[in-house]
Amino acid sequence: MRSEPVRDLGLTLPVLAAPMAGGAGTPALVEAAARAGGLGFLAAGYRTPQQLAEQITATAATGLPFGVNLFAPNPLPVDPAALRRYAELIAVEADRLGVALDTAAPPVEDDDGWQGKVDVLRAQPVPVVSFAFGIPPRADLAALRRTGALLVQTVTTAAEARAAAEAGVDALAVQAPVAGGHSGTLTPTRPPADIALDDLVAAVRHAVDLPVIACGGLATPEAVAAAVRAGAQAVAVGTALLRSDEAGTSAAHRAALAEPDRTTVLTRAFTGRPARALRNAFTDRYGPAAPYGYPALHHLTGPIRRAAAAAGDAERLHLWAGTGFRHAAAQPAAVILRRLADQL
Ligand SMILES: Cc1cc2nc3c(=O)[nH]c(=O)nc-3n(C[C@H](O)[C@H](O)[C@H](O)COP(=O)(O)O)c2cc1C
Repeated sequence: MRSEPVRDLGLTLPVLAAPMAGGAGTPALVEAAARAGGLGFLAAGYRTPQQLAEQITATAATGLPFGVNLFAPNPLPVDPAALRRYAELIAVEADRLGVALDTAAPPVEDDDGWQGKVDVLRAQPVPVVSFAFGIPPRADLAALRRTGALLVQTVTTAAEARAAAEAGVDALAVQAPVAGGHSGTLTPTRPPADIALDDLVAAVRHAVDLPVIACGGLATPEAVAAAVRAGAQAVAVGTALLRSDEAGTSAAHRAALAEPDRTTVLTRAFTGRPARALRNAFTDRYGPAAPYGYPALHHLTGPIRRAAAAAGDAERLHLWAGTGFRHAAAQPAAVILRRLADQL
């Protein structure tokens, strides 16, 4: 097992803060994870290359190790007619929030500024770069490798692990389907089957000889210890940090996470790509009707979600959460991360 790359980062706490785009992940959370002896990831998703460059500059100034996470291109174009039908269906929610929704607007099919962000990382190298949604083109992987960064690919099956190993990454973030937020699946129209994280880690370890960072549903010290026993060199948590002091989670999202009667659902209602969220009125009403199409649906529903967050309306908001959300505590991130390492 090639565990050196992860060991070389000199981490004393193998419980990492997973990347969280869309506001929950913050530079403060990344810094707190590093100060605790672990590692955090600046989430580049939805940011401009310029914003990413500024966050890297600020975080690098701490002198602490950190990672940057990118959404790698893996287009999931929407059927424009299906998008229009969906826009007409959800327009009532926009009306309710006083948001103008242009139901006839053409789909927005961008690649989240991929090339610009690769260029930023070439100009401002960071210790770790991780990828979700797609495996980057070889030339970009080679360019990022030359910066000295450790390259980490999110995978959700043993077959994806083999593809990532073949592409030449250094380590894998092995994500179970109970994880909060978007699934990192490379085949979003065929989301991964239910599998326990420990079984997935074991299957990936059997398939490839790369260090594994296990994630998805980890919310207790017992679960973290089990993932390490299954063969993970480190683990990463997202949901467990959503109510932490340093997270940028909206007030409505924080409050919903503290409601123990909530359940989670894998839904494409908000973004057209499977993501795990707390069930709410929006996922119930529109989940079954939503077409696949990322990022077209993300852009379509964005104004509704922003207005809902501002209004404190948790029923029209993407409440990303993994199944461990009941353990998410309102505490400093370092306390949460250290407690999760209690049984290692
Ligand atoms: C609010 C939120 C945002 C996320 N954003 C990203 C992201 O930008 N990139 C990524 O690779 N994973 C993202 N994820 C997934 C996490 O990195 C991680 O895989 C997941 O949180 C682990 O499962 P857990 O939530 O059960 O701990 C996000 C998760 C959440 C909860």
